[in-house]
Amino acid sequence: MHTTRTLAILKPDCVRRSLSGEVLRQIENAGFKICAIHMQQLTRTGAEAFYAIHKDRPFFNDLVDYMTSGPCIPMVLEKQDAVGAFRILIGATDPQDADEGTIRKLYADSKSENIVHGSDSPENAQIEIAYFFGESGIPTDIK
Ligand code: CMP
Repeated sequence: MHTTRTLAILKPDCVRRSLSGEVLRQIENAGFKICAIHMQQLTRTGAEAFYAIHKDRPFFNDLVDYMTSGPCIPMVLEKQDAVGAFRILIGATDPQDADEGTIRKLYADSKSENIVHGSDSPENAQIEIAYFFGESGIPTDIK
């Protein structure tokens, strides 16, 4: 297994509750390297585009409301099998189903407001990284 990248987002509830530092500490403690990071507030159009895959789900409007409710912190993370390793670190979508010690178990309030996003496949990671950071905006010499 080689070093790969995933996209993570500290969602608006994470920023609002002043948990960003704590969650970043856990991400770095777990061995992820932060390759790119910034804070931004998603527009409605932007959130709809990012989550287009969920556009027919009953929770789509609430998801867009939530993701546009305040600033969020997208970032690119690097590690061996980054997508899988990050999904283990954050736990199941619903914090009630998440394993003990995972970020969502520790901090998330609900399945909808669940603190953090992680790409679900290497293919989607590439698309999501390009969405926030462009194809070429990430330095490759951070080691
Ligand atoms: P995320 O991993 O960012 O991917 C899609 C998001 O939609 C998810 O986290 C939750 O914030 C939200 N979500 C997923 N399933 C549900 C659900 N059943 N009800 C409400 N929100 C959901």
